[in-house]
Amino acid sequence: MNIFVTGCTGYIGSHTCVELLNAGYNVIGLDNFSNSKREVLDKIKQITNKKIKFYEGDMLDESILDKIMNENNIDVVVDFAAYKAVGDSVVKPISYYINNVSSVLTLIKVMQKHNVKKLIFSSSATVYGKQDIMPITEEMPIGNTTNPYGTSKLFVEHILNDLSIADPEFKIIVFRYFNPVGAHPSGLIGENPNGIPANLMPFIAKVATKELECLSVFGDDYDTLDGTGVRDYIHIVDLAKAHLNGINKLNNMNEGGLLVYNLGTGKGYSVLEMIKTFEKVNNVTINYKIAPRRSGDIDTCYADSSKASKELGWTASLNLEDMCKDAYNFVINNK
Ligand code: NAD
Ligand code: UD1
Repeated sequence: MNIFVTGCTGYIGSHTCVELLNAGYNVIGLDNFSNSKREVLDKIKQITNKKIKFYEGDMLDESILDKIMNENNIDVVVDFAAYKAVGDSVVKPISYYINNVSSVLTLIKVMQKHNVKKLIFSSSATVYGKQDIMPITEEMPIGNTTNPYGTSKLFVEHILNDLSIADPEFKIIVFRYFNPVGAHPSGLIGENPNGIPANLMPFIAKVATKELECLSVFGDDYDTLDGTGVRDYIHIVDLAKAHLNGINKLNNMNEGGLLVYNLGTGKGYSVLEMIKTFEKVNNVTINYKIAPRRSGDIDTCYADSSKASKELGWTASLNLEDMCKDAYNFVINNK
């Protein structure tokens, strides 16, 4: 079976390609390296002993998508290609809407032309905005996003919903990822943000290696057990494996439609718990200070992932210790 993975050298794309290749799928990949490196292709090969059929190009370029569909008999598309930096999206909203929304429109147009009608789309827990009740289920309302990145994901969800009504042959899965962290246990692929990381785990890892001096804990007066923000961190390998379950589901759907699944562990951990676990499993000290809240942050966010468990047979199996160990292993291997 031929799986077309867009954004295949990115953080989630690369881990998913590894799982797809290990499971025996043929992987056809596209990336423009706007947020990843070509060397990831070699790392994927090192881990799996198999190669992706890779195309360098841009999702907005209809001709390359057309070429890929002409040259490969694609069964399923897994769409990861997007910009994802929340702060950056506030500064450059239009480039986020073009890259994250127009790319999906172009992709769908080409898929329809080639009669490829199975799609997995990478959405985010951010589409839920602020919810008062935890855990978050898929039935809860979406909207009230707080930045253009989140809104771009929301728009695409609406577009895909309209598409599934207008073209009932389309089989679509929307995954709403919670907080993917960690790295492949080989230490060969992982999250390698350019510059100073905006997210917690990569920041902690760089403080551990002394590349960064001190972690600012954004607020200790939230309505949580220790006052710091609580999130549902999920190991990247667990998240990647969910795409195999997603593909099985698409292949077994008797009719078209759109299905939405949360991907998280269902457990929330605070920033201080993250720091303590990281210190313990890696035998390091994390230098941190309490700083003011980060604007737009919420107290608590964790998933009810029981729908994915019931309908896809998927549950996360790796724990916070695995996430911290593998995140550190990756940064020390890639300093
Ligand atoms: P990433 O930036 O590591 O990977 C995205 C990849 O897509 C990169 O390799 C980039 O070069 C490529 N890309 C971007 N625009 C492109 C374009 N126009 N044409 C071709 N390639 C392009 O991000 P990630 O963490 O792997 O995220 C993958 C997807 O999952 C994104 O859609 C993201 O919004 C979504 N998501 C990520 C998270 C997270 O925390 N990492 C959470 C929720 C949702
Ligand atoms: C971030 C994104 C969100 C995306 C999600 C998925 C932001 C603002 N939001 O969410 O759109 O869907 O990742 O991975 O980037 N923290 C610190 N110090 C730091 C960094 C973070 O204390 O240096 C705290 C935050 O306040 C929060 C927690 O750590 O309580 C997690 O933050 P982060 O890793 O940025 O993830 P989210 O904000 O949940």
